[in-house]
Amino acid sequence: MIDKIKEYIAEVEDFQAKSKEEIEAFRIKFSGKKGIINDFFSEFRNVAVEQKKEFGQAINTLKNIAEEKVKLLKEEADTSTQYQSKGEDITRPGEPISIGSRHPISLVKNNIIDIFSRIGFNVSEGPEIEDDWHNFTALNLPEYHPARDMQDTFFIQTDPDILLRTHTSSVQVRYMENNKPPIRTISPGRVYRNEAISARSHCFFHQVEGLYIDKDVSFADLKQTLQYFTQEMFGKSKIRLRPSYFPFTEPSAEVDVYWGLETETDYKMTKGTGWLEIMGCGMVDPNVLKNCNIDPDEYSGFAFGMGIDRIALLQYGILDIRLLSENDKRFLDQFIPAL
Ligand code: DAH
Repeated sequence: MIDKIKEYIAEVEDFQAKSKEEIEAFRIKFSGKKGIINDFFSEFRNVAVEQKKEFGQAINTLKNIAEEKVKLLKEEADTSTQYQSKGEDITRPGEPISIGSRHPISLVKNNIIDIFSRIGFNVSEGPEIEDDWHNFTALNLPEYHPARDMQDTFFIQTDPDILLRTHTSSVQVRYMENNKPPIRTISPGRVYRNEAISARSHCFFHQVEGLYIDKDVSFADLKQTLQYFTQEMFGKSKIRLRPSYFPFTEPSAEVDVYWGLETETDYKMTKGTGWLEIMGCGMVDPNVLKNCNIDPDEYSGFAFGMGIDRIALLQYGILDIRLLSENDKRFLDQFIPAL
């Protein structure tokens, strides 16, 4: 009988399983209610007294190693065979991963950058937290200048010198301070104004500033450049320049593009005129050039600034500007995927 038990011990030690079913069959064979080990225990009373000790120890050994083996095999099966046992195909491609989409602001911004880079403009950036000099004073808006009221400003804490930039024109100043003409640059970025939030305006939005400084730059160059832009951006090159006022340009103008009056939306957007205002522009004021160490007798230039959010609303027919900053996935998913 002892020999028989030893044979079983060897069998348990050698046992290998190919599936969870085989492990279960093995468990039942040895440790099940009617299994080998219980059979031995029932035999125990018939064993001669002097053999009881040796016999008992042998059965216990068999019992322990059988249980240990089942435990071990089950653990192995759980980790290594979980992919195979149910017949799953591990070469199958994974679940699709959503790659997200570009934000409409980025789409419009990238388009504007593309259009101007084709005619030699580079991209420059500046800080959103600005000082008074770059946002106002250097741009011909000295302290107490009434035109400062055109842009309601967020100041940082109590320091009236530090503020959130109200326009990207501040980057013009930084660029001219650090680069010599000829200059052709556009500066996209976020700007802030202390305005009530509604469907049509927000306390932060985005602008692109354009700056061109060289010898003999004229107003005609400005108009040509803008016409090229509106043609590329909207497929429309009929524009008009209305006299306007900005402290940093002289003369200054507001640019309208002829949108047309073909649909009811055209009517609504253009208030029945067919014209849509898209940006401000002008010839850089000599005072601004001087403030940035550029000689106005040698150089001249033009500048323009437009709102990206407004163009995104127009292009995609978005009715509420707040959607652009709410990060609602249902809204964002409607734009083309990021690549
Ligand atoms: N900075 C102006 C604004 O935020 C926009 C602007 C107008 C920029 C005329 C210019 C410009 O460069 O020449 O309203």
